Amino acid sequence: MPTSQNHSFENWAEYLELSKNNPPSALLESAIPLVSNRDLALDLGAGALRDTKFLLSSGFKKVLAIDSEKDIRKYRSKIPASSLQIKVTQFEKLKLPKNTFDLINAQFSLSFTEKSQFPKLINQIKNSLQDNGIFCANFFGNKDSWNSNKNFLHQNMTFLTEKALLESLDDLEILYFNEKFFKGKTIDNLEKNWHIFEVIALKNPHQRKSKTHTKRTKI
Ligand SMILES: C[S@@+](CC[C@H](N)C(=O)[O-])C[C@H]1O[C@@H](n2cnc3c(N)ncnc32)[C@H](O)[C@@H]1O
Repeated sequence: MPTSQNHSFENWAEYLELSKNNPPSALLESAIPLVSNRDLALDLGAGALRDTKFLLSSGFKKVLAIDSEKDIRKYRSKIPASSLQIKVTQFEKLKLPKNTFDLINAQFSLSFTEKSQFPKLINQIKNSLQDNGIFCANFFGNKDSWNSNKNFLHQNMTFLTEKALLESLDDLEILYFNEKFFKGKTIDNLEKNWHIFEVIALKNPHQRKSKTHTKRTKI
């Protein structure tokens, strides 16, 4: 299965197939109780829909799942169109509506955005949250081993320092921020050093410029 020392995926369809039975993201599970309204959620880079399905089972009336991989549609099961809309597009071409989503989730996905497009993407995400909406995402840090040993897939990825990430989110209220370093395997069994930032943030209309950062290892 692996075809290179860093990554085996020439397209994301393989990843989707390997991850289709994964449980929902623990970070997203932690964010759900913080959401005040459960009308509409957005799952960015939704993959095989593990988190999309969890959002629906958590009481969201509707989820928009976006991914560049067209095979995402294979994993929708029999979820009706009234509950789930799937859109196949790249983050780099995304046009999100303003003030729309109660929650935006993005797990292991935004960092695959072409780095010159990342600031525009983050601004769109913030603008498309409703007031009191929650942003729940993780990001690859600059000390991740993929950042120093880049193959074709990683050379345009976005790797962030803590400072750069927090600056990009500084008009949100950070409810949870965690930095993780660990040695571990990719889904296709390749060992690497991971550097991951986890964020849960609130679009607080009363506190647009909060600098309150809560750092802890468990919610
Ligand atoms: C590592 S997977 C994570 C999938 C899912 N969020 C999960 O946690 O199981 C990354 C996902 O992001 C999608 N993706 C990668 N680059 C993308 C881009 N530039 N625009 C949109 N989606 C992208 C891939 O197709 C894939 O489904």
